[in-house]
Amino acid sequence: MVIPRSRSVSERSVLPVVSPTVNFPVMKSVFFSRFFILLPWVLIVIIMIDVDTKRTSRTPAVARAGRTQHQRTARPGAPAGVNRSFIYAITPTYTRPVQKAELTRLTNAFRQVPSFHWIVVEDSTTRTEMVARFLARSGVPYTHLNVFTPRRFKRTGMPRATEQRNAALAWLRQHRTRRDAGVVFFADDDNTYSLELFEEMRGTKAVSVWPVGFVGGRAYERPIVTGGKVVGWYTGWRPDRPFATDMAGFAVNLQVILGNPRAQFKRRGSQPGMQESDFLKQITNVSDLEPKASNCTRVLVWHTRTEKPHMGNEPKFRKDTVVIEV
Ligand code: UGA
Ligand code: MN
Repeated sequence: MVIPRSRSVSERSVLPVVSPTVNFPVMKSVFFSRFFILLPWVLIVIIMIDVDTKRTSRTPAVARAGRTQHQRTARPGAPAGVNRSFIYAITPTYTRPVQKAELTRLTNAFRQVPSFHWIVVEDSTTRTEMVARFLARSGVPYTHLNVFTPRRFKRTGMPRATEQRNAALAWLRQHRTRRDAGVVFFADDDNTYSLELFEEMRGTKAVSVWPVGFVGGRAYERPIVTGGKVVGWYTGWRPDRPFATDMAGFAVNLQVILGNPRAQFKRRGSQPGMQESDFLKQITNVSDLEPKASNCTRVLVWHTRTEKPHMGNEPKFRKDTVVIEV
């Protein structure tokens, strides 16, 4: 109602403007009358645009990218809107002759695991070109990080990959939220993984466990299960460990990682081989562990440890005429 009436006012005032004599005061009033009619509408539009951009920019850029990765890797046919559980495999790795062969063995398994995200953390001052190129071609959704282990910790008897695993945990805490369903698993690069292992761990509610081949000085190490509960450990090495398991012998629900923001791998006070126990103590109890792999009676992962290749005949001079990445 207001608009037509004011429009007629302005029309009336427009009339003198078309006359040959230019009437400046009239033009001014025309301008202001139109201006004040339009102003509230312009303000409403500006406010609406502003509210809308604020709503979308609240999600940080990286988190948005993460969600896109989820969608890209979601199983075809998965019901829309369901946040399918992801497996986040954390792999610390370092430059050495067998590195690419190790990562290739892992990739051949991981590529076949649905809803999988690989967090590769290089023990290096930079993300190396070799690993970056390798990951880009791997066909596995990944995040590539790096952190260098201080020299003073690179000694025999010192725990390995502490900083790298903690960097991956920090990444998860920064880039995943309470709405993301997932399971976190520590996948060292010198192990062999069956595909069944990943289906076993996918249902982990808090912390799950299973046997690991070729650790603890035996053919395998395993949790002993009675009545569906872990009651002890079958191992050939330090059975006094509260959790006598290898890094490859357990998985943790993502929400347990997010809900215990201080839980991490320790350097201080940690003895060799105690990293797993020291970490698990911070987030669970033995009686709460969920046994997998048929009540811990099947070996689905092996600590194969690739033999160091013999390269005593590598030429110092007169090398090959081409440079080949191994
Ligand atoms: C055993 C356990 O299986 C490991 O999970 C544990 O971290 C390790 O003991 C330890 O003493 O802390 P082990 O075969 O002795 O494993 O160790 P590696 O497999 O050589 O190292 C574990 C992971 O850390 C591997 O993925 C490896 O690539 C990486 N790593 C190793 C580094 O990132 N930097 C290094 O200097 C050495
Ligand atoms: Mn190992």
